[in-house]
Amino acid sequence: MNDTITLALSKGRIFDETLPLLKAAGIEVLEDPEKSRKLILPTNQPGVRVVLVRATDVPTYVEHGGADLGVTGKDTLIEHGGQGLYQPLDLRIARCRVSVAVRADFDYATAVRQGSRLRVATKYTTIARDFFATKGVHVDLIKLYGSMELAPLTGLADAIVDLVSTGNTLKANQLVEVERIMDISSRLVVNQASLKLKQARLRPLLDAFAAATAQEPRT
Ligand code: PRP
Repeated sequence: MNDTITLALSKGRIFDETLPLLKAAGIEVLEDPEKSRKLILPTNQPGVRVVLVRATDVPTYVEHGGADLGVTGKDTLIEHGGQGLYQPLDLRIARCRVSVAVRADFDYATAVRQGSRLRVATKYTTIARDFFATKGVHVDLIKLYGSMELAPLTGLADAIVDLVSTGNTLKANQLVEVERIMDISSRLVVNQASLKLKQARLRPLLDAFAAATAQEPRT
């Protein structure tokens, strides 16, 4: 294993909200992923690079050593299982929630009370399965990879389990949030072998992330 530190990030909100934390650690990414097709981005520190991967692939890259560390949502981490990953820090960025939503004309409360079997479409099958099992609600889970909001509108499902941030997507599709399952934020995950073998290089980075995170408001 060489001495370069590789950080896995996904484009969009996680990338954007990780930049200030990196800056606090003295690291600046030298290319804008929205303007470049490059997947490996250099930084101002010769021994540190950023790799861009799909959000759901971040834990996999870090688990198998394709990256030494990464930033990933709690939702993604739960679905991955988190095996083989050291999780030192809640970065408290990219906050949102996982919720249950239905069509405005679907009587969710009555369906639950009467013990009806619900068809639930989601990308988050582990979170949904655990939530409804704890509630004692029988569900048929339908695995989707995106555009969950479409499922109740087309009759594919009675409900969805999806991320909600502003609520605008639900509103635009005439869906209503009927239960909040959990709050989500992004976590730092570290490869366990890297933590031992690259300790001298990683420790100051982890400390800087921890210090920068402590500055974030605790809302
Ligand atoms: C997420 C989620 C919702 C939307 C919620 O999708 O799946 O569709 O954001 O945000 P809002 O409450 O602010 O409208 P995202 O854009 O991350 O893409 P995805 O469909 O690939 O998950």
